[in-house]
Amino acid sequence: MERKEISKAVITRLPRYYRYLGELLEEGVERISSNDLSIRMKVTASQIRQDLNNFGGFGQQGYGYNVKYLYTEIAKILGIDRQHNLIIIGSGNLGQAIANYANFERRGFIVKGMFDVNPRLIGLVVRGIEIRGVEELEKFIVEHEVQIAALTIPKTKAPEIADRLVKAGIKAIWNFAHVDLVVPDDVVVENVHLSESLMRLSYRVSSMQDEETERRAQGQKQT
Ligand code: NAI
Repeated sequence: MERKEISKAVITRLPRYYRYLGELLEEGVERISSNDLSIRMKVTASQIRQDLNNFGGFGQQGYGYNVKYLYTEIAKILGIDRQHNLIIIGSGNLGQAIANYANFERRGFIVKGMFDVNPRLIGLVVRGIEIRGVEELEKFIVEHEVQIAALTIPKTKAPEIADRLVKAGIKAIWNFAHVDLVVPDDVVVENVHLSESLMRLSYRVSSMQDEETERRAQGQKQT
């Protein structure tokens, strides 16, 4: 497949295309036009055509997109057509919730191990995965060819653990701790902050409430 340099904005949108295409496949839909996809996804058809053109003509004029092909190609671009071994550092509430979410495995993310410092947690088993002491970290990463580490530990501990992970050969950190990590260029960090998402939601709901109050005030003035 011919591949142009894909912008970050497009990459950010690809998981959403992937999810919708997966749903279409489950419904047995084989082809879909950019117009129909645009109605489902609530984005413009021209945006869809522009985004998907990045990968060299998935669609054919008047014929639509081949759903299976597009789904497979997007999976390749996102790298979820292969297996990624993952570990979770910090096996508290969030770490265990992630370990318990079996669906990641459908996308090729295999939780190989969990780690913690709390002796009361070490030795427990979550969905078949044993929680180990962090002293085993480096050896485990090498032996299990781990690429990705989810950091679900307090922010004060995250930089030190990140350094250890990098030295042990980890290439990607899925960072839930509320701290910006400093890592070498060949290591990628994806920060996930639910509270930021909640703040964006708060902004939107507050704006709606303000508009409603404004409308009511205008209505009262007119009566
Ligand atoms: P928790 O207290 O239930 O779990 C944290 C675990 O990390 C504990 O089991 C603790 O023993 C362990 N831990 C502490 N130091 C460690 C170290 N050096 N190595 C290995 N394990 C260590 O807390 P919870 O609720 O699971 O949250 C975990 C972290 O994730 C916190 O930093 C929290 O602020 C953050 N968080 C982030 C969210 C996000 O959207 N980014 C959402 C919820 C929590």
